[in-house]
Amino acid sequence: MNRHYETLMALLRARHSCRAFAPRPLENAVLDALGAAFAQTPQAGGGRGLACTFITDAARLRELAEAGTRAFAALCDNIPSAFIREEMQRYGENFFWFGDAPALAVVTCRKPPAFLQAALGDKAALQWGGELSGAMAAFALLLAAQTLDLGACCLTGPLAVWQEMENRLAIPKHDHLVLLTALGYRKDSP
Ligand SMILES: Cc1cc2nc3c(=O)[nH]c(=O)nc-3n(C[C@H](O)[C@H](O)[C@H](O)COP(=O)(O)O)c2cc1C
Repeated sequence: MNRHYETLMALLRARHSCRAFAPRPLENAVLDALGAAFAQTPQAGGGRGLACTFITDAARLRELAEAGTRAFAALCDNIPSAFIREEMQRYGENFFWFGDAPALAVVTCRKPPAFLQAALGDKAALQWGGELSGAMAAFALLLAAQTLDLGACCLTGPLAVWQEMENRLAIPKHDHLVLLTALGYRKDSP
């Protein structure tokens, strides 16, 4: 196989989710480089309003994670079935650890237009491809993070309380939160 394929495969093999980060901030040049990789990916229809914003303020990140934890606990408390409530509580254990990450990428896309919702119902989002475009761009972010010796982990768990997350992140009404990505230098890196 050619050199480019080998390089790509080495990158794919080396990438693993990272959930423990060194207490070292990400330099602006690094954030710019990550943003450029995100922006380079294709979008359905040539444009689905994809955006990637980085939160690096430690207090804001902690507040967001704490608010998510509280909202998720309230959601679980309101589940009448003890079995489903306990399953959800267990399922949610890996959703809100991102409060300690040095940076969080917030990926959003434009919602499908009303005519598509009316014509296609719950398949509108899939056909519109906004979230899928966001997911592809997030993978570019993961690969770019790998080349920059950063650890990263995508998170859709927090979308269990998407309304709380979108309100706290002040996401405009015509946009959707697609996913979050925790980023930072790995705790165990030299
Ligand atoms: C779309 C997506 C959502 C994810 N959501 C979460 C999450 O909410 N919490 C979490 O700890 N990990 C999350 N992960 C990380 C996966 O658990 C992880 O990628 C998977 O276990 C494979 O491990 P690897 O990334 O090390 O190869 C998510 C990964 C993807 C691709």
